[in-house]
Amino acid sequence: MAAILSISDLRKSYEGGFEALKGVSLEIEEGEILALLGPNGAGKTTLISAICGIINATSGQVLVGGYCIEKDFRAARSLIGLVPQEINLEPFEKVINSVRFSRGLFGKTRNDALIEEILKKLSLWDKRDSQIKELSGGMKRRVLIAKALSHEPRVLFLDEPTAGVDVELRKDMWEVVQELKDNGVTIILTTHYIEEAEAIADRVGVITGGQILLVKDKDELMTQLGQKQLCVQLAGPIPEIPKALADHQLELSTEGDTLIYTYDTKGERTGITALLNDVAAAGLQLRDVSTRQSSLEDIFVGLVSGGQS
Ligand SMILES: Nc1ncnc2c1ncn2[C@@H]1O[C@H](COP(=O)(O)OP(=O)(O)OP(=O)(O)O)[C@@H](O)[C@H]1O
Ligand SMILES: [Mg+2]
Repeated sequence: MAAILSISDLRKSYEGGFEALKGVSLEIEEGEILALLGPNGAGKTTLISAICGIINATSGQVLVGGYCIEKDFRAARSLIGLVPQEINLEPFEKVINSVRFSRGLFGKTRNDALIEEILKKLSLWDKRDSQIKELSGGMKRRVLIAKALSHEPRVLFLDEPTAGVDVELRKDMWEVVQELKDNGVTIILTTHYIEEAEAIADRVGVITGGQILLVKDKDELMTQLGQKQLCVQLAGPIPEIPKALADHQLELSTEGDTLIYTYDTKGERTGITALLNDVAAAGLQLRDVSTRQSSLEDIFVGLVSGGQS
């Protein structure tokens, strides 16, 4: 599949010299859902704002559908829909007018059938004549999405779309995102909810300190998540792993008193029974046995605090 969004060595220094993006490069394929995870201040909103032309990058290049975001701004921008992190709606405006107006901003002709379809999809049709100020926070977020979709973008950015949204609404939002993907829209979303990335993303990117640390297929990450370790604590230290246990591919702790066995929780057979039998047959005495599982959260915490995955 072709890249619909191509970012190379993007840098952004804010006034005063703070470098919020330190050379970000990323290729996003048409039709995929990429979730960007990162702590507060990582640079997620800065990255999205630079791509969407809300702020000017200091250097680097962004191509959207082959159009340069600087040289061909209008063409590039018309392919993009943005749902900003901050709710910035006109309180006295009616929902339907607000969405219509957004479409007009992109020079597209009025299309009431499309606006109706979008509002229905987002369960806002009943509220079409309500003023924005009469809506709940979650509904306002839906209006932001409706506005972002009004000019039929091919790439949709969602900056924390479900922050402060209840579980039910969040799941509705995931469905909307999935439907958009089915219609060929490419989606980049930022989130603090790891289960959100797990639920809807094809790929997951981790950003911290203005740098992308990792971009990986979600299933690969989930395989990592499926890893579990069995720690077999021995009665005393041993100098090396006995040859009889070579088949189990164990690690010996630095103190020499614990054998560490890593296995896949999704596998049909974990091999634990055979391992424990062989440990006993090798004449080793056990003091304790425990397990630990690495979660996606552990992986992220490790990454953003400077550790290795
Ligand atoms: N207009 C600005 N002027 C100066 N510094 C800024 C400006 N906007 C953002 N920053 C700084 O740039 C860094 C990245 O901010 P950004 O908003 O991109 O983070 P984020 O990853 O979106 O965080 P969050 O998860 O809190 O939304 C932060 O250190 C922030 O203080
Ligand atoms: Mg942000």
